[in-house]
Amino acid sequence: MTKKRAFLLSMEGIEGTGKSTHCRILSRFLKRQGYKVCIFREPGSSSVGEKIREILLHGKNELTAFCETLLFVAAREQLVTQKLKKNLYTKDVIILDRYIDATLAYQGYGAGVDVRLIKQLNKAAVGKLVPDLTILLDVCPKTGISRSGRGDRFEKRNLAFHGKVRNGYLRLAKKDKKRIKVIATDTSIENVEEKIQQIIHNRLGCKNKI
Ligand SMILES: Nc1ncnc2c1ncn2[C@@H]1O[C@H](COP(=O)(O)OP(=O)(O)OP(=O)(O)O)[C@@H](O)[C@H]1O
Ligand SMILES: [Mg+2]
Repeated sequence: MTKKRAFLLSMEGIEGTGKSTHCRILSRFLKRQGYKVCIFREPGSSSVGEKIREILLHGKNELTAFCETLLFVAAREQLVTQKLKKNLYTKDVIILDRYIDATLAYQGYGAGVDVRLIKQLNKAAVGKLVPDLTILLDVCPKTGISRSGRGDRFEKRNLAFHGKVRNGYLRLAKKDKKRIKVIATDTSIENVEEKIQQIIHNRLGCKNKI
């Protein structure tokens, strides 16, 4: 019998919404239930992708918004080809700490790059490997930035930029209600965790192997 391809779940949201925290918590939760899970982060999780991450997040050179777009998409293509496709039939769930929507929200709605063009670039990079489910963690930029505290290039941008990114994300969610589920993260981590698990439970039907 051929194995089903892995369920693709992306975690999205502005800085400090709790994406990485909830990728880890969810991975542990699903593993306890007997699922084979892996987490990839964007940009990164491939050797070239991690180098691109360094340029994008910590590079000293000024980058245009379009150059940023191309770098994010380049890292994404490497991730899809070198990592995602290789794990597609060995894992049950692949969790992506940011993916296609981040470029639309940040470089598109946030920095003004043509959203249709980004969609085309995304399509060229990921093909049919669009997430089955996207969890959009939502919080006001002020709270998000105050939580994040890594001081990378994006985090240093002003609140107005992060407001545009947040609205961009919410717009994407409104247009694709079936795929993108919005969860407010101005409550406790445990509360958010519970909401995420409920959504996953509905979608996967948990195995409960504990
Ligand atoms: N609901 C929450 N309430 C309070 N603190 C939270 C909540 N969710 C996450 N945090 C805390 O906020 C900080 C940032 O969380 P995390 O790194 O998971 O965010 P992120 O979305 O991955 O950020 P980035 O965009 O910078 O990668 C962590 O210290 C985390 O413990
Ligand atoms: Mg993170």
